[in-house]
Amino acid sequence: MVATPLFKVGVVPGDGIGPEVTAEALKVLSAAGEEFGFRADIRRYDFGAERYLKTGETLPEEALEEFRGLDAILMGAFGDPRVPDMRHAADILLGVRFRLDLYVNQRPVRCLSDRLCPLKGRGREEIDFVVFRENTEGLYAGLGGNFKKGTPDEIALQEDVNTRKGVERIVRHAFAFALRRAERRGRPPKVMMTDKSNALRYGHDLWQRVFRQVAAEHPGIESGHLYVDAMAMQMLKDPSQFDVVVTCNMFGDILTDLGAALQGGLGMAASGNINPSGVSMFEPVHGSAPKYAGKDVANPMGAILTIQMMLEHLGHLDAARAIEGAVASALEMRQCTADVGGSLGTRATGDAVAGLLRRPA
Ligand code: NAD
Ligand code: IPM
Ligand code: MN
Repeated sequence: MVATPLFKVGVVPGDGIGPEVTAEALKVLSAAGEEFGFRADIRRYDFGAERYLKTGETLPEEALEEFRGLDAILMGAFGDPRVPDMRHAADILLGVRFRLDLYVNQRPVRCLSDRLCPLKGRGREEIDFVVFRENTEGLYAGLGGNFKKGTPDEIALQEDVNTRKGVERIVRHAFAFALRRAERRGRPPKVMMTDKSNALRYGHDLWQRVFRQVAAEHPGIESGHLYVDAMAMQMLKDPSQFDVVVTCNMFGDILTDLGAALQGGLGMAASGNINPSGVSMFEPVHGSAPKYAGKDVANPMGAILTIQMMLEHLGHLDAARAIEGAVASALEMRQCTADVGGSLGTRATGDAVAGLLRRPA
């Protein structure tokens, strides 16, 4: 991809700590732009709980249309105790994922400092894999309903939607990514698929068949399968065995919180919601952490590493690499928040990373 020097980024800071970590991510984006010769034209959108409670509006149709014309979207986090059913987040976050067909949810599990890994004797070397979470169907499709709601005879159905097209495109993406990653790292590619086909007979049988077919077309890639319960256990027992992991929407959600813990906590994990032929959206893995909101304590590293993913996607590879280096150095010098062993606030951490990014003249 050819990197463009000026690109349009839509920013939705959202709720809770979302605005605070987003501000630091944008600070780092702007510092990277100065150093590497690009500029982001930022367009802000105030969609979130506050606007929803005031106006009833979640994600207006015109905004979705505008998003289609952007180069990338950055989101903070959604979730507010005043909206217990997360109605607004379903419209905004899942709405963007579904309606822009962002079918690839790429979630790196990469530990940037040995001291952050909670597993004895493991660190940067051992924790470095990428999870691909199917992002447009599965249990998240929203199909189902209630019957006799609120009565003792209530029935609640939540359908698990797995389509041939949906499963095949994420599995193919994982294999193609594994090849590119292997070239970069000089290590043989491996793809692990994880499901629950021993219990979920129809949907996950489809995953099995599609995976076997795509694996057979890629004899140069080692492929394997683990049931998701065993996968969770292996992620703790020996995370170094993983290179690329592909799974359904629900399991991808759960496993990547576990993956975040391997990286030093939810404050460290980044993600990209990608449409390989359209606009993509980037967000940290964590939520709105309401108890930390407005206190200048939230860790902005996950949001900053989300900018790294965005820049990589837009073709600014040097800037992306420099951001990772600056985050790793800040962690090494303990110029970070308390959850990752430092004593800085959110803003000072953003300043530290932005400062480390600026190359000496
Ligand atoms: P959460 O990720 O907001 O927080 C869980 C815990 O992780 C926090 O209590 C905190 O200890 C830690 N944590 C998370 N982010 C951190 C950061 N940046 N710095 C330091 N520590 C951090 O998850 P939750 O408490 O389950 O959910 C809170 C709200 O966020 C809920 O409304 C939930 O639905 C929503 N949520 C939104 C998203 C999203 O917008 N992408 C993701 C997950 C949860
Ligand atoms: C995530 C979040 C969302 C999800 C919630 C807020 C709907 O947990 O991005 O991981 O489940 O996808
Ligand atoms: Mn999640």
